[in-house]
Amino acid sequence: MAQTWTPNSWRQKPIQQVPDYPDLAALEAVETRLAKYPPLVFAGEARRLKTALANVAEGRGFLLQGGDCAESFAEHGADTIRDFFRAFLQMAVVLTFGAQQPVVKVGRIAGQFAKPRSSGVEKQGDVTLPSYRGDIINGIEFTEEARVPNPERQIMAYRQSAATLNLLRAFAMGGYANLENVHQWMLGFVKDSPQAERYRKLADRISETMDFMKAIGITSENHPSLRETDFFTSHEALLLGYEQALTRVDSTSGDWYATSGHMIWIGDRTRQPDHAHVEYCRGIKNPLGLKCGPSLTADGLLELVDLLNPANEAGRLTLICRFGHDKVAEHLPRLIRAVEREGKKVVWSCDPMHGNTITLNNYKTRPFERILSEVESFFQIHRAEGTHPGGIHIEMTGNDVTECTGGARALSGDDLADRYHTHCDPRLNADQALELAFLLAERMKGGRDEKKMVVNG
Ligand code: TRP
Ligand code: MN
Repeated sequence: MAQTWTPNSWRQKPIQQVPDYPDLAALEAVETRLAKYPPLVFAGEARRLKTALANVAEGRGFLLQGGDCAESFAEHGADTIRDFFRAFLQMAVVLTFGAQQPVVKVGRIAGQFAKPRSSGVEKQGDVTLPSYRGDIINGIEFTEEARVPNPERQIMAYRQSAATLNLLRAFAMGGYANLENVHQWMLGFVKDSPQAERYRKLADRISETMDFMKAIGITSENHPSLRETDFFTSHEALLLGYEQALTRVDSTSGDWYATSGHMIWIGDRTRQPDHAHVEYCRGIKNPLGLKCGPSLTADGLLELVDLLNPANEAGRLTLICRFGHDKVAEHLPRLIRAVEREGKKVVWSCDPMHGNTITLNNYKTRPFERILSEVESFFQIHRAEGTHPGGIHIEMTGNDVTECTGGARALSGDDLADRYHTHCDPRLNADQALELAFLLAERMKGGRDEKKMVVNG
C-alpha cells in the first residue's frame, strides 16, 4: 500500500486548511529561498528526543509540552521567551519531583505559527474577510490588506524561529537553567501564592533534597547535568510548503528529517489518513504527535498508528488526547484498549486545553477547574487501564495574562478584559501553569503511594 514517499508527495493528496495565496509564483519563490536556508534543528537532536520519548512510552518518563497557542511577530522579544522558559522550567522541576522520573521538555515554540481554523472566513458586522491563519500566513488585524496571505511572512517566521531557538539554547546550556536557580524561582512563587500553605509541603521536600545533594558534594560545578537541560521545540505541521522547504536528508543516516523543529504534530482537523498532512509526516523520521479528539474511532486511530509508525518504534508517536473534561471518560478508554490490544507503543499525552474552551463575556476562555479535571481523569483512566499517563500538552505563557478563569487567584469572567493578549486560544498564565504542575505532582505522588500499598498489602 505504502507508495514511495518524497518531501513533496503530499502535493498529490487532498488537503485541508490551505491558505489562498493570490500570487503562486511569489509563494514558490519563497519556498525556493527557504529550501537553501540552514536547518533550524539537527537530525541528531530529533533522534535524542525520540530516545527520551521511547523511555516515556515504556513508562520511564514524563513529557511536558507547552507554549503559546500561536506565536506572534508582535510579541517576539527576549523577555517573552525568558518568562516562558522560566515558568516552564519551574513546572519541569515540580513534575520531575512528583513523578520521580525524568521530564522530557518540549516547547510549543520556535515555529508554532500556523493555525487551523473552523471557518475560512470571519464575519464582523456585515464585513466578511478571510480568517486569520497565524502570523506565518496573514495578519490578525481585521482589514482586507492584513488578511491576504503573504508568503514573505514565512521568511519572517523562519528568522524569528532561529532567533528564539538561539536564545533558548543559550538559556538551556549557559547556566540560566541551573536547578538551583529554578528552585529559588519556584520558592518565590510558592511564597506569594494564595495556596502557599498547600504547595509548601512539596516545595520543602524539594529544598531538603537539594540540601542533601549539596551536603554530599553534588553541585552544579562538578555535575553539568544540574546546570544544563535538554530542551526541544515543536509545532503543528500545518503549512506543508514551509515544512517541505525545511525537510532535509540527514547525512549520518540518509533519512529525511523535518528541520523546522524537533517534534511536529498533526492536528485533529488534518489527520485524514489519505490526505496530505499524514502523507508528509509519515516520511520524516522526527518524533510525531497526533491530536486525538472525540471524533476519532478506535479503528481510525489504529489505521493512523500503522501509517505513522509502521515499525512500532517506541518514541516515534505521541497521542495527544483532547476530549474535554466531560468527554474524556467516554473516549479515552476505548482508544487505550485498542492500542493495548494491538500492542502498539505510544506515548499517551493529555491536552486539557482544546476540549475545554467556552465563551464568557464575549471572550474565549477556559476554566482552570475543567483543565485540571481533564488531566485528573486522564490519570485515573490510565491507572485503571494499567497504562502510563505519559505527559501533558498545554497552552501557556510566562506572562501575567488573564485568559483562563480560575486558579488560586480566582480569575473571574470580569477579569478577562484586563490582560487578554492571545492571538488565538486562551493560555494559562505563569501562576496557573505552575499551579497545575503542583496539583499534578501531588497526584502523582498519591498514585505511587497507592501502588506501594497494593504491592505491600
Ligand atoms: N538536567 C536535569 C534535567 O533536565 C536537571 C535539571 C537541570 C533540570 N536544570 C533543570 C530539571 C531545570 C528541570 C528544570 O532534568
Ligand atoms: Mn490552540
